Amino acid sequence: MESWLSKQSASLLLFFIKFLVFVELPVSLCAYDWYSRCSNDRFNCGKITNVGYPFWGDARPDACGHPDLKLNCAKDITTIEIKRLTYRVLAVNESTKILKIVRDDYWGGICSPRLENTSLDHDLFDYGPGYLNITLEYGCLIPGLSTCTINGFTNTGVIVQIGAQGPGLCTASVVFPVAILNLDNGARENLELIEAAIKGGFDVKWKEETAACSACTESKGVCGYDVISKNRTICYCPDQRYGSTCPSSPAGSPQVPPTETGMH
Ligand SMILES: *[C@@H]1O[C@H](CO)[C@@H](O)[C@H](O)[C@H]1NC(C)=O
Ligand SMILES: *[C@@H]1O[C@H](CO)[C@@H](O)[C@H](O)[C@H]1NC(C)=O
Ligand SMILES: *[C@@H]1O[C@H](CO)[C@@H](O)[C@H](O)[C@H]1NC(C)=O
Ligand SMILES: *[C@@H]1O[C@H](CO)[C@@H](O)[C@H](O)[C@H]1NC(C)=O
Repeated sequence: MESWLSKQSASLLLFFIKFLVFVELPVSLCAYDWYSRCSNDRFNCGKITNVGYPFWGDARPDACGHPDLKLNCAKDITTIEIKRLTYRVLAVNESTKILKIVRDDYWGGICSPRLENTSLDHDLFDYGPGYLNITLEYGCLIPGLSTCTINGFTNTGVIVQIGAQGPGLCTASVVFPVAILNLDNGARENLELIEAAIKGGFDVKWKEETAACSACTESKGVCGYDVISKNRTICYCPDQRYGSTCPSSPAGSPQVPPTETGMH
């Protein structure tokens, strides 16, 4: 009788362990399969499709991209924030690592500026080739100019300069890049054409950890970001380990599995 009881409790225990193993474990393994998630959950929004590392956002988890390279999606429009200014993303080219962006405050025209100069986060981006800095000068007391009514001023003249360093005789100035291509055809002298040229955007080239990510990709991993230290690219491997690269054989040195802190 004694031994029957202990057999019963042993099989109950076994049942409980099986329950844990077969019910709990697969769920958590799925949740932490960052290799599949970062491979498959690409960023898609309107015309911007199939974007991967170093970007994340929308359905693509933060563990799959650099913390400062979040893409937002609203009504099929993709935006990114760079140094607290919002930019619309017109195109993403992963082979050239170029984003084509436009300041969102200039999308609807030149009369609703944030009155802030454009500046890139140079840890993340460089200017792409083929642009000129244009300067829009507001509050110019020069008769006969096109005018804008903007915060703080009324009926103030606007002038467009190439490469000017400040407001000059006007009250405020905003500098930003425009693709040289779009400035052809007289756009430099005509405010409507300037508005169209601005909407054409300018190119920035992203710099994020090219070498670390290539090493990862070459080892058959998929690039992601260390969501805990928030300071390095990491490599998610098909066998669900991770490290700086994936081991070349399954017998490679074991690595610590990702923890729940990475979940979002
Ligand atoms: C990326 O840029 C290259 C070189 O300009 C071009 O050949 C390629 O078609 C572009 N790719 C996409 C997806 O636009
Ligand atoms: C445009 O302005 C930025 C920011 O002031 C500067 O870093 C860059 O060198 C300028 N580019 C050109 C072509 O003048
Ligand atoms: C933009 O930079 C110029 C100097 O290059 C400065 O004179 C101007 O005030 C700045 N504009 C704003 C809005 O800060
Ligand atoms: C990244 O962060 C970890 C822990 O937060 C720290 O130990 C490590 O030195 C950092 N590495 C770099 C390159 O900053």
